[in-house]
Amino acid sequence: MTALDLSSSVAVVGTGTMGQGIAQVALVAGHTVRLYDAAPGRAREAADAIGARLDRLVEKDRLGAADRDAARARLLPADDLAELADCTLVVEAVLERLDVKQELFRALEDVVADDCLLATNTSSLSVTAIGGALRVPGRFVGLHFFNPAPLLPLVEVVSGFATDVTCATRAYETARAWGKTPVACADTPGFIVNRIARPFYAEAFAVYESQGADPATIDAVLRESGGFRMGAFELTDLIGQDVNESVTHSVWQSFFQDVRFTPSLAQRRLVESGRLGRKSGHGWYDYGDGAERPEPHTAEPAEPPAYVVAEGDLGPASELLALIREAGIEVREEDEDNGTRLVMPGGGQLALADGQTSVEFRDVVYFDLALDYRKATRIALSHAQDTSPATVAEATGLFQALGKKVSVIGDVPGMIVARTVARIIDLAYDAVAKGVATEEDIDTAMRLGVNYPLGPFEWDRRLGRTWVCSLLDDLHQRDPSGRYAPSLALYRHAYATEKREGTP
Ligand SMILES: NC(=O)c1ccc[n+]([C@@H]2O[C@H](COP(=O)([O-])OP(=O)(O)OC[C@H]3O[C@@H](n4cnc5c(N)ncnc54)[C@H](O)[C@@H]3O)[C@@H](O)[C@H]2O)c1
Repeated sequence: MTALDLSSSVAVVGTGTMGQGIAQVALVAGHTVRLYDAAPGRAREAADAIGARLDRLVEKDRLGAADRDAARARLLPADDLAELADCTLVVEAVLERLDVKQELFRALEDVVADDCLLATNTSSLSVTAIGGALRVPGRFVGLHFFNPAPLLPLVEVVSGFATDVTCATRAYETARAWGKTPVACADTPGFIVNRIARPFYAEAFAVYESQGADPATIDAVLRESGGFRMGAFELTDLIGQDVNESVTHSVWQSFFQDVRFTPSLAQRRLVESGRLGRKSGHGWYDYGDGAERPEPHTAEPAEPPAYVVAEGDLGPASELLALIREAGIEVREEDEDNGTRLVMPGGGQLALADGQTSVEFRDVVYFDLALDYRKATRIALSHAQDTSPATVAEATGLFQALGKKVSVIGDVPGMIVARTVARIIDLAYDAVAKGVATEEDIDTAMRLGVNYPLGPFEWDRRLGRTWVCSLLDDLHQRDPSGRYAPSLALYRHAYATEKREGTP
């Protein structure tokens, strides 16, 4: 099954933000594109707006003037649905309401041929539910573009229960021919990206709600240690708190209030009070005139220890040993396989976040997971109230000697990056086990759809599968709500790895 022929016409129905972007993509790819919108005049306005964007592409030398003129001539606003009769693909991007979309597709089926591919750009409704209204539901598929569609490469190609494989393949190949990177996924709440990304926001908000750290510190740690392009607070301010919360709410409701997707009370309060983010001038942060972004917590300089004793190889943080040596600090290696601990001269210990709290141990400071300890510019530390100040100072000085800023946060199990990444990985395993998508497509979707520095499976391979599972197990013991319970799929992988590697 191949992509749609360029000689065939594509229709876009609903010419708001997404419809315009999708139309531009199909147009630049070479199709004739018909635009239809229920609001009178809107399709023509959309054609003008797309034309203006093509002009800007010409100004930036990204499109030739002749190609722009040809594309402009192929862009045809329609006053009536009947004008879409010759189209071989219709992409719908209207209001996000099931009844509105179902009614539209019923009307479209009366207009287009029976082999016309029908697609919805819905982000939160069920493709199966919308397709249920159709006479020929096998030709109905989800084509979920991301905003702005002309720029973002990812398209989730969603198969509903009734979608024919040939139609899904044709939609997939067409998206690819349009220069996009399609991924195939099943019709489940949030599809791939909006399902697996939920913990990125939820865990940041949970750390904040448990008084673990302020938004600026959590954002800085996610960026500078986790390698995420933006922190969860600044990103949701950009997306709009209402928009982000409504996705979370919809995924949570669609999964019958599954505790793993529980929305955040703090975010609810923001939305209720109209603090929607950049667009309203105030969200987690203030965007008013003269408002200054709060600084993340950064520890004062401290003396590094003269040496550290490494018990075991530090697991996912093993790279630290080389960095410590390069900083001129002696590393004494002991055979004792304690896995993830460094003992400092004062007797205090430094341990990688593992889902436990430091109050459970004598004189322990936890440090957070980093995407890459060499490149990380900030590391979060946490400790119990009774951890000795000398141990905290030694731990702080150690990371500062490696050139890192240090943020000291509250004694939150799993800290910031570790719990976030572990939950993302767990949801990814769960999604594969439920037939949502392949590992490869999930990695692609999370890298391209939300800019993660690594796909969840790539990240997991770096960490070792048992590490994520045991961290979540520990978190689950401390919060038995089910939010952190490792999925059966993650357990299976952890045990399979242990057997293969011969770990007892
Ligand atoms: N905005 C995003 O970031 C984003 C991303 C991915 C998917 N989506 C999905 O894309 C769809 C459109 O979102 P948007 O942000 O472009 O909305 P929008 O409000 O910008 O545009 C919707 C357009 O649809 C028109 N419309 C409404 N009912 C119609 C009907 N029955 N027939 C024809 N036209 C109709 C409206 O007049 C409007 O022009 C939604 O399903 C949304 O969930 C949005």
